[in-house]
Amino acid sequence: MRSAMAIRRILTAQEPILRERAKKVSNFDASLHRLLDDMLETMRDAPGVGLAANQVGVPLQVAVIEIENRITELVNPQIVKSTGEQLDWEGCLSIPGYVAEVARDAKVTVKARNRRGREFRVTGDELFARALQHEIDHLNGVLYLDHLDATDELVRVSEAADEVGEEAAAGI
Ligand code: NI
Repeated sequence: MRSAMAIRRILTAQEPILRERAKKVSNFDASLHRLLDDMLETMRDAPGVGLAANQVGVPLQVAVIEIENRITELVNPQIVKSTGEQLDWEGCLSIPGYVAEVARDAKVTVKARNRRGREFRVTGDELFARALQHEIDHLNGVLYLDHLDATDELVRVSEAADEVGEEAAAGI
């Protein structure tokens, strides 16, 4: 029997679990599948384009990204290659209402497992590369704030609306 997906509560930046390194997944079982299903539902409801499991209170190395109708589920993800630099606006579902310009690698390749435990690699650039780095940061207890030189680089979405793309403003 399949249970319905559920929207989980997204924790905000002051919650300690967002500052802890998430644990590796070793059981690719029904509870992992349910977590991934719920995370997709929760991310879409927010709405956002990426979500890490510790953002919904589960300290496991699990993340989902959905950009341009492509869903990427990542279990135990690791960046194995990165090149170049990009600077663009970035938001986070755990830091609602704010964005900042964050420097990221332009293109990254990530090694991860899927929900069945099979290893795969995915390469992305632009927003997808940004989201991959942002989610893997989350799983290491890192927030985009940590990449800023000063907190005054944080801007209210409403004040930057003309410059910030809809997806970046939505949060990852
Ligand atoms: Ni985030």
